[in-house]
Amino acid sequence: MVTYIKGRGDRNLRDLVDLETGVVSREVYVNEDIYAQELEQIYGRAWLLVGHESQVENPGDFVLGRMGEEEVILTRDRKGQIHVFLNTCRHRGMKVCRYDDGNALVFTCPFHAWTYDTDGRLVGVPHHHDAYFDELDKSQWGLAEVAQMCNYYGSIWATWDPKAPSFEDYLGPFKQTVRWAFQASDGTDAGVELYKPAQRWRLPSNWKFGAFSFAGDSAHAAMTHLSVNAAAIGPQGEVEGGGRHPLAAPFPSKRGYMSSRELGHVGQLAIYEQPGVADYRDTWLLEPGVDDYWRETREIKKQKFANEFLHMQSDGQFHIWPNATMSDWRILMWHPHGVGMTESWRQYQVDKNAPKHVKDAKRRYVMRYCGPAGITESDDMENWNYAHPASLGMVAQRYPYNFQLGLHHNHYDERIPGVTIGDRGPSEENQRARLRRWVEFMEAGSWDDIFPVRKNGKSNGKPRGGNGISSSW
Ligand code: FES
Ligand SMILES: [Fe+2]
Repeated sequence: MVTYIKGRGDRNLRDLVDLETGVVSREVYVNEDIYAQELEQIYGRAWLLVGHESQVENPGDFVLGRMGEEEVILTRDRKGQIHVFLNTCRHRGMKVCRYDDGNALVFTCPFHAWTYDTDGRLVGVPHHHDAYFDELDKSQWGLAEVAQMCNYYGSIWATWDPKAPSFEDYLGPFKQTVRWAFQASDGTDAGVELYKPAQRWRLPSNWKFGAFSFAGDSAHAAMTHLSVNAAAIGPQGEVEGGGRHPLAAPFPSKRGYMSSRELGHVGQLAIYEQPGVADYRDTWLLEPGVDDYWRETREIKKQKFANEFLHMQSDGQFHIWPNATMSDWRILMWHPHGVGMTESWRQYQVDKNAPKHVKDAKRRYVMRYCGPAGITESDDMENWNYAHPASLGMVAQRYPYNFQLGLHHNHYDERIPGVTIGDRGPSEENQRARLRRWVEFMEAGSWDDIFPVRKNGKSNGKPRGGNGISSSW
């Protein structure tokens, strides 16, 4: 078991995260040693969302992304192959690429001009003949590339760990949910593109405040978002009292908190009582012609999935461990940048084939809603930005956080194996599921300790015990 040392004594991580009682030490969110361990044990090992293929449509296209604290280059080489490279020169570490996005024939380092092809090979070194005497083996000094990369229905994921399981295995019961998030509104796979560029800003709080709250903390909304709920920022304007979400037709379903305790992925999603897709309900009442497009594509989707149960479809919000939150309209990434700083990224999917007026209408809506200039998420930031410093003090750290909402009030449903459900009101079960996975990643010596989640490779949806974490639910 990994332990960390602090002036007030040696404790292990399970003393800090007590999931049986729902009590979690503030140190998990503010301690520098724990944070250093997270970078290595979590960000050096997990599959991380890097970007989307629409950002690098043509050979030579590139866009910068992040994996943990480190910057990466997502690029498409001249043969059309997508790569993810660490953005650092192998000579003396300079950022090889200093532009957020663009198109390049090669990446030439601004320091001493080592030059890399878009496939990562080192192809040019000044003085190679006259001063390196042709003795430098360029084949050994290409850009550092991720150990594994997966293009999953257009979304690009990567890991630094060659022993990580396949991305589909990593997703477990959430693999369809992620797939659906990148479908066009007519149900076509990989049918979306992202608006460019990403919204990016820094929040003075630990990365887990955002990453573990989203898709798991609906209890905050009534208080935190009181003002925006009254501001009618939704596409329907003031119809039915306003609101921030589009109008939707009813469909027989049960919504709840759904989590894979074993894998750490969670969502606020639905189980359906009938197959198919809900009717479209006009909601873009202030934007002429926009509803026509969505109504037509919904009809196509309804026919396509008429006989299928789309349990856990991405119309709700969900989170892929450790730091990607998404739904079928937006992607939120929570990049650590020091124990008390998070770089928050927002990107938005839109149908590739949607007409311009539809894309523009959606862009205006997401900008009203999201990011530092939107009027919803600024409410959340206000809380996290103050909760972090108010948790730093020596005395403050004596008092743990409370994660007891809905504790031990969950159940299973055979229609969605491997998923724990909390549907009796607000619950912090999804946050507990991430903390459960957090402990396992922080303790594990390698992927062998945390995957497969059962020795026989099967998960039947029942909680496991015997590893020190209680199986009660
Ligand atoms: S640091 Fe890149 S060429 Fe020297
Ligand atoms: Fe919120």
